[in-house]
Amino acid sequence: VGFSQVGAESDWRTANTESMKSTFSEDNGYELIFDDAQQKQENQLTAIRNFIQQEVDYIVLAPVTETGWDTVLQEAKDAGIPVIIVDRMVDVSDDSLYTAWVGSNFKLEGQKAMAWLDAYLEAKGRGDEEINLVDIQGTIGASAQIGRTEGFDEAVEAHDNWTTLAQQSGEFTQAKGQEVMESILKQSGDDIDVVYCENDNEAFGAIDAIKAAGYEVGGEEGQILVMSFDTTNAGLTQTLSGEITCDTECNPLHGPRVEEIIQKLEAGEDVDKQAFVDEVAFASDDTVTKVTIDGTDYDITPITQEIIDGRAY
Ligand code: AHR
Repeated sequence: VGFSQVGAESDWRTANTESMKSTFSEDNGYELIFDDAQQKQENQLTAIRNFIQQEVDYIVLAPVTETGWDTVLQEAKDAGIPVIIVDRMVDVSDDSLYTAWVGSNFKLEGQKAMAWLDAYLEAKGRGDEEINLVDIQGTIGASAQIGRTEGFDEAVEAHDNWTTLAQQSGEFTQAKGQEVMESILKQSGDDIDVVYCENDNEAFGAIDAIKAAGYEVGGEEGQILVMSFDTTNAGLTQTLSGEITCDTECNPLHGPRVEEIIQKLEAGEDVDKQAFVDEVAFASDDTVTKVTIDGTDYDITPITQEIIDGRAY
């Protein structure tokens, strides 16, 4: 199995890589050829071509961005190698270029987070206040960025009293999240109410920048409320301390899911073309414990140390 990973830019991605490596181990009867693309699509294209040359049985691709895959996936198809896409999606003209995709509903993640924010501000008596928001986006063009930004934009659009002060990519890294936050704080630090970070590592960087600039993080009026995605161990620990007020899950444990797809293909069985994983959300307190999106209820669980200790990542 050849696995092309986006890169090691976040704690989430480390957990994702671990899940793949522990599943596709020699003990389990696999040979895994792992390639870390360092967030560059051209490295992923090279890795896939190498996998084809090495005549692997399956190619697993965690794509950095959605577009630009048609040619290389056609090459894999011509070589008769099934391609399984994980986590983020590819945008291709012909969906027979990949065999199956399993990953997150990134738009739903963003919708849940923004529905939580709406209910939280309402519960705090701030429903009619002017609220200024910042969106530190992920890698532009990645499904995780596209979906989470859509969830953010649609919610801001729906509120006359919400304004986007800044919207800029932090490339899903702590260093860039901090750098972007520092420059936004210089321009409009006193006006910011909410910072929506599109992953935990960006949130860690943003929180450092906010505190260094002399502002307080937290969910009360006068503080800067930080939201995040991923629910890594470190992210949830900062949720427990109240520095992240809401953290929405993006589940990285795709190894066993990909293995199930491969086993079905080996047995000649049909597989789902696309499958979303179930995901949860956590908050630093119990102000809001449920949100409803398109008629479906989603729990928002107040985080505890016990929950953190019981989780796999
Ligand atoms: O594609 C999943 C996203 O990308 C995760 O939120 C993030 O941490 C990763 O880098």
